[in-house]
Amino acid sequence: DCDAFDISEKLGFVPENPLTDLPDYYKVWMDLANNLAHLLESHKLRDQVHKMPILSPHLLSNHRELRLAHLALGFISMGYVWQEGQHEPAKVLPKALAVPYWTVSRRLGLPPILTYADSVLANWKLKDPAGDIEVGNIDLIVSFPGGESSRGFFIVSLLVEMAASSGLVGVLDVMHAMETSDIDGIQKGLIKLTQSLKKMKETFKLMHEHVNPTVFHGTLRIFVSGWRDNPMLPNGLLYEGVSKDPIFLSGGSAAQSTAIQCFDALLCIRQEGDTGDYLTRMRDYMPPVHRQLIETLAALPPLRDFILSSSSSDLREAYNSCVTAMVDLRAYHLNAVTKYIIVPGNTARAMECPLGGVGTALNEKGTGGSDLMVFLKSARNATQNALIP
Ligand code: HEM
Ligand code: ALA
Repeated sequence: DCDAFDISEKLGFVPENPLTDLPDYYKVWMDLANNLAHLLESHKLRDQVHKMPILSPHLLSNHRELRLAHLALGFISMGYVWQEGQHEPAKVLPKALAVPYWTVSRRLGLPPILTYADSVLANWKLKDPAGDIEVGNIDLIVSFPGGESSRGFFIVSLLVEMAASSGLVGVLDVMHAMETSDIDGIQKGLIKLTQSLKKMKETFKLMHEHVNPTVFHGTLRIFVSGWRDNPMLPNGLLYEGVSKDPIFLSGGSAAQSTAIQCFDALLCIRQEGDTGDYLTRMRDYMPPVHRQLIETLAALPPLRDFILSSSSSDLREAYNSCVTAMVDLRAYHLNAVTKYIIVPGNTARAMECPLGGVGTALNEKGTGGSDLMVFLKSARNATQNALIP
């Protein structure tokens, strides 16, 4: 069951032991990716990209190599577009990036932009391979500028995603138990999910220790931004050698995390209107096998209806505890958004001078292009509405 959706019992949708290097032929890509933060800080990445040969992607022979290529080309592309800050985004992605990136993306069923599946899920390695998976022993494969804060943001997100793994096992348990209307099994699966959601929230707290709000807002965010619903690139991005028309794609965001959408689907939390449309669109940014679990869950006979028609008050309680843990996680997330986006955004606006820009163009938008506060509050309220009175 886990295998069918590429889920690991220990790591969930996080691939175990992602590849960190490509065949020698792709050395140019990996050299740029490995030095990315430095090349951006010294404003040299664009020049380096202009010297890049057009490599053929046909020597990439398996899924792990394709994922690493997508990750490397994604980081280089974001860096290329945003190297000069919010006032001078590149409007054209050069052929040497655009053409192979397009092909690699098609083979993976992912869009040609940096996704959560790249920057968080497949972007880690252990410093000491014999050591534990914990914040001090994890390094990113590719990093943006912003030092420890920038790394910390992706690493803590990764740990939160790992904490969702037992929740996914709970989801699969519930799915099975529903086939035989096994009330005890459903209840146990829901309890597993609740515990996992609590662990996700506890893990989220590491953000405060590892990520500085000014650095996150002023340095990192722009590099994760895309070219759809983004006031800095209202006309999209031209992929040279790929298409004559510009392409519109959303930037990276944990809204592309499959785990949370699976939980919504199982619990019959109904994200409607613009919020629902946005979350559904984010599925296009997930690896296709992961996306499939959301679709499988959404097609199941609704768990909530089953519970409503059951006379077990224990079951109802287990369900409501789960939904409450989802509300708590989303409420905690909203507080983090205030601390990491709204507050530094207001400070940056107050200090803005005609010459400099420190990320104020993204004050009202998420890096994924949503109208962030309206969107996030709506997602939390929809969660609350699922509670059974
Ligand atoms: C969506 C910010 C960390 C899960 C969003 C959005 C923003 C945001 C602005 C709106 C979508 C968009 O990008 O346009 C932040 C900030 C974080 C953070 C500032 C930390 C400093 C996390 C983490 C998780 C997470 C660690 C893991 C659970 C989500 C989810 C959504 C989302 C699931 C979609 C909305 C929902 O389902 O409620 N985030 N995020 N975020 N984020 Fe985060
Ligand atoms: N989606 C997060 C943001 O907008 C990363 O800052």
